[in-house]
Amino acid sequence: MALKVGLIGLGLMGKPMGQNLLNAGFVLTVWNRTPEKAKDLADRGAHLAANPRDVASRSDVLIVIVSDPPAVEDVLWGANGAIDGLPPGSVLIDSSTISPELARRAAAACSERSVDYLDAPVTGGDWGAKKGELVFMIGGKENVLERVKPVLSVLGKKFFLLGPNGAGQTVKLAMNLLLALEVDALAESLALVTAGGVPGERLIDVMQSSMARATVLDVKAPSMLKNEFPSSFPLRLMHKDMRLALELARQKGLNLPAGEASYATYSAVKDKSKDDPDYAAVARFWSKP
Ligand SMILES: NC(=O)c1ccc[n+]([C@@H]2O[C@H](COP(=O)([O-])OP(=O)(O)OC[C@H]3O[C@@H](n4cnc5c(N)ncnc54)[C@H](OP(=O)(O)O)[C@@H]3O)[C@@H](O)[C@H]2O)c1
Repeated sequence: MALKVGLIGLGLMGKPMGQNLLNAGFVLTVWNRTPEKAKDLADRGAHLAANPRDVASRSDVLIVIVSDPPAVEDVLWGANGAIDGLPPGSVLIDSSTISPELARRAAAACSERSVDYLDAPVTGGDWGAKKGELVFMIGGKENVLERVKPVLSVLGKKFFLLGPNGAGQTVKLAMNLLLALEVDALAESLALVTAGGVPGERLIDVMQSSMARATVLDVKAPSMLKNEFPSSFPLRLMHKDMRLALELARQKGLNLPAGEASYATYSAVKDKSKDDPDYAAVARFWSKP
C-alpha cells in the first residue's frame, strides 16, 4: 500500500516539495502555520490538517521543514504538537536546519512512541526543491532510510547517510558555514578591487580561470555585481545557520575565528536590511550609504 505522507511547513522549500509529492501520486496531508499558504496544494489535491498533531496522526511518513529550532519545537511540542499524533511505526523526517542537539532530542521523543526519526537537512535551494533534486544529509539508521526512500527519491537526487541522529545536522551546519565564508570572502575581494579602481567583473573573469574558481562564482557573483539580491537562500536563514554552527563549535570547545568574524559581518548587514535579501547581500557591508 502507498505510504501516506504528511508535510509541515510550506515555505520556499516545503511548498515545491509538496507539489512534487502530489505529482508522484502520494496521498499528502499538509499543515502550515499561515493557512493561506496551503491553498495551492489543497487545490491540487492535498488534504488540509487542522494542526501538526492532526497531520502527524494521518501520516506513515511525516516531513517537517520549518525555519529554525523554535519553529521545530513549536510544531513538535507546542499546542497540538506533532509528536503526540505520530502513530507507532511511523517515521518523522526533519529537513529543517537545526542544532544536532535538538535533532537528538526529537529522536528520543520519537523513540518513546516507537517512531523512527531521521535528521535530513537539505542543500540545493528552492531551485533544487522545485526540480526534485535536493541533496539530503542524513543522521539515523540505514534501514529507516531504506523504508522512506520511495518518498525521499521524489524530493532529492542524493542521500548521504552520515552517522547516527544529529550527524546530518552537524554536516549541514559545517557546510553552510563554509558557504557563508566563501560568499563573504568573494564580497570582500570585490570591495577591494573596486576600491582599487578595477571593475568587479575583471576579478571574476580572472578567478574563473584560477584556483579560486568555485560554484559560488557562477551562482552569486552576478547578483553581487548588479547589487541586486532577490532571495534564493535568505540571509536571515544563513545567519541562523552560522549561529548554530558557532554554538556547536563552542559546545565542543572549538574556536572558529574566521567564522566568528564573518558572522559579525552578516549580522551587521542583517540588522540594516529592511527587505528579506539573499545571503549574497553580505556585499552590502561595503556599499556606500
Ligand atoms: N530556502 C533555501 O534555499 C533552503 C535551502 C536549504 C535548507 N533550507 C532550510 O529549510 C528550512 C525552511 O526554509 P524555507 O526557505 O522554506 O523557509 P521559509 O520560506 O522562511 O519558510 C519557513 C516555514 O517555517 C514556518 N514557521 C516558521 N516559524 C514557525 C513556527 N513558530 N511555527 C510553525 N511554523 C513556523 C513558516 O510558516 P509561515 O508560513 O506561517 O511563516 C514557513 O512554513 C530552514 O531550516 C532552512 O534553513 C532552506
